[in-house]
Amino acid sequence: MVCLAGGFCYSWRMQKQNLVFLHGFPFNGSSWDAETQHFSREHNVLAPDLRGHRGGPDSPGPWFVEHFVEDLKSLLDQKGYAKMVLCGLSMGGYVALHFAQKYPERLAGLILCDTRADPDSNEAKDKRFATLQKIQADGLAAFAEDFSRSVLAESSLQAKPDLQKKVAAMITGNKQSSVAMVLGTLASRRDSTPYLAAIRVPTLVLVGDQDKITPVEVNQVLAKAIPGARLEVIPGAGHLSNLEQPELFQKKVEEFLRANF
Ligand code: MLT
Repeated sequence: MVCLAGGFCYSWRMQKQNLVFLHGFPFNGSSWDAETQHFSREHNVLAPDLRGHRGGPDSPGPWFVEHFVEDLKSLLDQKGYAKMVLCGLSMGGYVALHFAQKYPERLAGLILCDTRADPDSNEAKDKRFATLQKIQADGLAAFAEDFSRSVLAESSLQAKPDLQKKVAAMITGNKQSSVAMVLGTLASRRDSTPYLAAIRVPTLVLVGDQDKITPVEVNQVLAKAIPGARLEVIPGAGHLSNLEQPELFQKKVEEFLRANF
Protein backbone atom coordinates (compact mmCIF):
# COMPACT_ATOMS: atom_id res chain seq x y z
CA MET A 1 0.00 0.00 0.00
CA VAL A 2 1.36 3.43 -0.96
CA CYS A 3 -0.08 6.58 0.77
CA LEU A 4 0.32 10.07 -0.61
CA ALA A 5 0.15 13.35 1.32
CA GLY A 6 -3.52 14.11 1.99
CA GLY A 7 -4.27 10.54 2.96
CA PHE A 8 -4.94 9.12 -0.49
CA CYS A 9 -3.75 5.51 -0.50
CA TYR A 10 -3.52 2.98 -3.29
CA SER A 11 -2.15 -0.51 -3.45
CA TRP A 12 0.82 -0.94 -5.79
CA ARG A 13 -0.11 -4.07 -7.65
CA MET A 14 1.11 -4.87 -11.08
CA GLN A 15 -1.29 -6.09 -13.70
CA LYS A 16 -1.71 -9.85 -13.87
CA GLN A 17 0.37 -11.09 -16.79
CA ASN A 18 0.58 -14.27 -18.81
CA LEU A 19 4.16 -15.43 -18.27
CA VAL A 20 5.63 -18.15 -20.47
CA PHE A 21 9.01 -19.69 -19.67
CA LEU A 22 10.97 -21.61 -22.33
CA HIS A 23 13.73 -23.95 -21.19
CA GLY A 24 17.20 -24.55 -22.62
CA PHE A 25 18.61 -27.56 -24.50
CA PRO A 26 18.24 -30.39 -23.60
CA PHE A 27 16.29 -29.83 -20.39
CA ASN A 28 12.53 -29.54 -19.75
CA GLY A 29 9.84 -27.33 -18.23
CA SER A 30 10.74 -28.49 -14.71
CA SER A 31 13.83 -26.29 -14.91
CA TRP A 32 11.36 -23.45 -14.24
CA ASP A 33 9.65 -25.07 -11.24
CA ALA A 34 10.88 -22.41 -8.78
CA GLU A 35 9.73 -19.58 -11.08
CA THR A 36 6.40 -21.29 -11.74
CA GLN A 37 5.80 -21.54 -8.01
CA HIS A 38 6.94 -17.98 -7.32
CA PHE A 39 5.16 -16.15 -10.14
CA SER A 40 1.93 -18.19 -10.06
CA ARG A 41 0.95 -16.21 -6.95
CA GLU A 42 0.29 -13.16 -9.12
CA HIS A 43 0.35 -14.28 -12.73
CA ASN A 44 -0.72 -16.99 -15.15
CA VAL A 45 2.38 -19.10 -15.72
CA LEU A 46 3.25 -21.72 -18.34
CA ALA A 47 6.56 -23.58 -18.60
CA PRO A 48 6.00 -26.14 -21.38
CA ASP A 49 8.28 -28.99 -22.37
CA LEU A 50 9.52 -28.00 -25.81
CA ARG A 51 9.48 -30.30 -28.85
CA GLY A 52 11.56 -33.42 -28.33
CA HIS A 53 12.06 -32.74 -24.62
CA ARG A 54 10.38 -35.00 -22.02
CA GLY A 55 6.62 -34.73 -22.72
CA GLY A 56 6.84 -32.06 -25.44
CA PRO A 57 5.49 -32.41 -28.98
CA ASP A 58 7.06 -35.22 -30.96
CA SER A 59 6.78 -36.09 -34.63
CA PRO A 60 9.10 -37.44 -37.30
CA GLY A 61 11.86 -34.89 -38.01
CA PRO A 62 13.64 -32.92 -39.19
CA TRP A 63 12.69 -30.12 -36.78
CA PHE A 64 13.36 -26.46 -37.34
CA VAL A 65 13.14 -23.74 -34.68
CA GLU A 66 10.07 -22.67 -36.66
CA HIS A 67 8.36 -25.89 -35.48
CA PHE A 68 9.00 -24.84 -31.87
CA VAL A 69 7.48 -21.43 -32.67
CA GLU A 70 4.33 -23.01 -34.10
CA ASP A 71 4.10 -25.38 -31.10
CA LEU A 72 4.17 -22.33 -28.82
CA LYS A 73 1.59 -20.46 -30.91
CA SER A 74 -0.76 -23.50 -30.71
CA LEU A 75 -0.30 -23.70 -26.94
CA LEU A 76 -1.08 -19.99 -26.50
CA ASP A 77 -4.19 -20.28 -28.67
CA GLN A 78 -5.31 -23.33 -26.71
CA LYS A 79 -4.81 -21.49 -23.38
CA GLY A 80 -6.45 -18.30 -24.66
CA TYR A 81 -3.33 -16.18 -24.08
CA ALA A 82 -3.74 -13.23 -26.45
CA LYS A 83 -0.51 -11.67 -25.20
CA MET A 84 2.29 -12.73 -22.88
CA VAL A 85 5.64 -11.88 -21.40
CA LEU A 86 7.96 -14.47 -22.94
CA CYS A 87 11.04 -15.58 -21.03
CA GLY A 88 13.51 -17.93 -22.74
CA LEU A 89 16.83 -19.30 -21.57
CA SER A 90 19.48 -20.19 -24.15
CA MET A 91 17.62 -22.39 -26.69
CA GLY A 92 14.43 -20.98 -25.15
CA GLY A 93 15.81 -17.54 -26.03
CA TYR A 94 16.40 -18.60 -29.65
CA VAL A 95 12.77 -19.73 -29.82
CA ALA A 96 11.57 -16.53 -28.11
CA LEU A 97 13.40 -14.35 -30.66
CA HIS A 98 12.04 -16.35 -33.60
CA PHE A 99 8.55 -16.17 -32.06
CA ALA A 100 8.86 -12.41 -31.48
CA GLN A 101 9.71 -11.92 -35.12
CA LYS A 102 6.83 -14.01 -36.45
CA TYR A 103 4.10 -13.05 -33.94
CA PRO A 104 5.02 -9.63 -32.49
CA GLU A 105 1.35 -8.96 -31.73
CA ARG A 106 1.36 -11.77 -29.13
CA LEU A 107 4.20 -10.24 -27.16
CA ALA A 108 3.85 -7.89 -24.17
CA GLY A 109 7.45 -8.21 -23.00
CA LEU A 110 10.60 -10.24 -23.49
CA ILE A 111 13.10 -11.73 -21.05
CA LEU A 112 16.15 -13.25 -22.69
CA CYS A 113 18.44 -15.27 -20.44
CA ASP A 114 21.92 -16.62 -21.17
CA THR A 115 21.29 -16.61 -24.90
CA ARG A 116 22.30 -15.04 -28.20
CA ALA A 117 20.71 -13.80 -31.43
CA ASP A 118 23.37 -14.85 -33.95
CA PRO A 119 23.38 -18.33 -35.52
CA ASP A 120 26.00 -21.08 -35.15
CA SER A 121 29.39 -20.26 -36.66
CA ASN A 122 31.08 -23.00 -38.71
CA GLU A 123 33.08 -23.86 -35.60
CA ALA A 124 29.89 -24.18 -33.53
CA LYS A 125 28.36 -26.40 -36.26
CA ASP A 126 31.45 -28.63 -36.16
CA LYS A 127 31.02 -28.85 -32.39
CA ARG A 128 27.37 -29.91 -32.80
CA PHE A 129 28.48 -32.70 -35.14
CA ALA A 130 31.19 -33.81 -32.71
CA THR A 131 28.58 -33.84 -29.92
CA LEU A 132 26.24 -35.92 -32.08
CA GLN A 133 28.99 -38.45 -32.76
CA LYS A 134 29.89 -38.58 -29.08
CA ILE A 135 26.27 -39.19 -28.06
CA GLN A 136 25.94 -41.94 -30.67
CA ALA A 137 29.20 -43.56 -29.57
CA ASP A 138 29.03 -43.18 -25.78
CA GLY A 139 25.31 -42.71 -25.07
CA LEU A 140 23.24 -39.96 -23.51
CA ALA A 141 24.35 -40.57 -19.91
CA ALA A 142 28.00 -39.77 -20.72
CA PHE A 143 26.94 -36.60 -22.54
CA ALA A 144 24.67 -35.64 -19.63
CA GLU A 145 27.54 -35.93 -17.17
CA ASP A 146 29.85 -33.70 -19.24
CA PHE A 147 27.24 -31.19 -20.37
CA SER A 148 25.69 -30.71 -16.93
CA ARG A 149 29.15 -29.78 -15.64
CA SER A 150 29.87 -27.37 -18.48
CA VAL A 151 26.67 -25.35 -18.02
CA LEU A 152 27.09 -24.75 -14.28
CA ALA A 153 29.46 -22.29 -12.61
CA GLU A 154 32.35 -23.85 -10.67
CA SER A 155 30.85 -22.33 -7.50
CA SER A 156 27.51 -24.07 -8.20
CA LEU A 157 29.25 -27.41 -8.79
CA GLN A 158 31.03 -27.06 -5.44
CA ALA A 159 28.11 -25.74 -3.40
CA LYS A 160 25.18 -27.52 -5.06
CA PRO A 161 26.18 -31.04 -6.17
CA ASP A 162 22.50 -32.03 -6.24
CA LEU A 163 21.85 -29.40 -8.88
CA GLN A 164 24.36 -31.03 -11.23
CA LYS A 165 22.59 -34.38 -10.70
CA LYS A 166 19.21 -32.75 -11.37
CA VAL A 167 20.48 -31.17 -14.60
CA ALA A 168 21.99 -34.48 -15.75
CA ALA A 169 18.71 -36.25 -14.95
CA MET A 170 16.75 -33.77 -17.07
CA ILE A 171 19.07 -34.58 -19.99
CA THR A 172 18.78 -38.37 -19.64
CA GLY A 173 15.00 -37.98 -19.29
CA ASN A 174 14.90 -37.25 -23.02
CA LYS A 175 15.06 -39.76 -25.86
CA GLN A 176 18.58 -39.98 -27.27
CA SER A 177 17.19 -39.70 -30.81
CA SER A 178 15.39 -36.46 -29.89
CA VAL A 179 18.48 -34.88 -28.36
CA ALA A 180 20.36 -35.84 -31.53
CA MET A 181 17.61 -34.30 -33.67
CA VAL A 182 17.57 -31.02 -31.75
CA LEU A 183 21.33 -30.63 -32.31
CA GLY A 184 20.45 -30.27 -35.99
CA THR A 185 17.62 -27.86 -35.14
CA LEU A 186 20.00 -25.59 -33.26
CA ALA A 187 22.70 -25.77 -35.95
CA SER A 188 20.19 -24.74 -38.65
CA ARG A 189 18.58 -21.81 -36.84
CA ARG A 190 18.23 -18.44 -38.55
CA ASP A 191 20.10 -15.32 -37.53
CA SER A 192 17.81 -13.16 -35.35
CA THR A 193 20.28 -10.25 -35.25
CA PRO A 194 18.75 -8.22 -38.11
CA TYR A 195 15.40 -8.25 -36.29
CA LEU A 196 16.57 -6.97 -32.88
CA ALA A 197 16.24 -3.26 -33.70
CA ALA A 198 12.55 -3.83 -34.52
CA ILE A 199 11.66 -5.17 -31.06
CA ARG A 200 9.15 -2.77 -29.51
CA VAL A 201 8.35 -4.38 -26.14
CA PRO A 202 10.08 -3.92 -22.77
CA THR A 203 13.03 -6.31 -22.76
CA LEU A 204 15.27 -7.63 -20.01
CA VAL A 205 18.48 -9.55 -20.72
CA LEU A 206 19.83 -11.68 -17.88
CA VAL A 207 23.13 -13.54 -17.82
CA GLY A 208 25.18 -15.42 -15.24
CA ASP A 209 28.56 -13.79 -14.64
CA GLN A 210 30.25 -17.18 -15.17
CA ASP A 211 28.28 -18.28 -18.23
CA LYS A 212 30.81 -20.03 -20.49
CA ILE A 213 28.32 -21.00 -23.23
CA THR A 214 26.82 -17.55 -23.91
CA PRO A 215 29.16 -15.25 -21.95
CA VAL A 216 28.36 -11.81 -20.55
CA GLU A 217 29.90 -10.05 -23.60
CA VAL A 218 27.55 -11.91 -25.96
CA ASN A 219 24.53 -10.86 -23.88
CA GLN A 220 25.85 -7.29 -23.76
CA VAL A 221 25.83 -7.22 -27.56
CA LEU A 222 22.32 -8.66 -27.55
CA ALA A 223 20.97 -6.09 -25.07
CA LYS A 224 22.63 -3.20 -26.89
CA ALA A 225 20.92 -4.12 -30.15
CA ILE A 226 17.39 -4.12 -28.67
CA PRO A 227 15.90 -0.64 -28.18
CA GLY A 228 15.59 0.19 -24.48
CA ALA A 229 16.66 -3.29 -23.30
CA ARG A 230 18.10 -3.60 -19.81
CA LEU A 231 20.99 -5.98 -19.06
CA GLU A 232 21.43 -7.52 -15.62
CA VAL A 233 24.36 -9.76 -14.72
CA ILE A 234 23.64 -12.41 -12.10
CA PRO A 235 26.61 -13.05 -9.83
CA GLY A 236 27.49 -16.62 -8.88
CA ALA A 237 25.77 -18.20 -11.89
CA GLY A 238 26.88 -19.98 -15.03
CA HIS A 239 24.66 -20.74 -18.04
CA LEU A 240 21.62 -21.83 -16.00
CA SER A 241 21.18 -18.58 -14.09
CA ASN A 242 17.64 -19.31 -12.83
CA LEU A 243 18.60 -22.72 -11.41
CA GLU A 244 21.88 -21.51 -9.94
CA GLN A 245 20.63 -18.27 -8.35
CA PRO A 246 16.83 -18.60 -8.16
CA GLU A 247 16.18 -15.81 -5.65
CA LEU A 248 18.30 -13.26 -7.50
CA PHE A 249 16.86 -14.33 -10.84
CA GLN A 250 13.28 -14.01 -9.59
CA LYS A 251 14.04 -10.62 -8.04
CA LYS A 252 15.33 -9.28 -11.37
CA VAL A 253 12.26 -10.59 -13.20
CA GLU A 254 9.97 -9.22 -10.50
CA GLU A 255 11.57 -5.75 -10.76
CA PHE A 256 11.25 -5.84 -14.52
CA LEU A 257 7.56 -6.74 -14.30
CA ARG A 258 6.85 -4.05 -11.70
CA ALA A 259 8.69 -1.40 -13.70
CA ASN A 260 6.92 -2.16 -16.98
CA PHE A 261 3.44 -3.60 -16.34
C1 MLT B 1 21.06 -24.37 -24.19
O1 MLT B 1 21.35 -24.28 -22.99
O2 MLT B 1 19.91 -24.25 -24.60
C2 MLT B 1 22.17 -24.69 -25.17
O3 MLT B 1 23.41 -24.46 -24.58
C3 MLT B 1 22.00 -23.91 -26.42
C4 MLT B 1 23.00 -24.24 -27.46
O4 MLT B 1 23.63 -25.30 -27.39
O5 MLT B 1 23.13 -23.46 -28.41
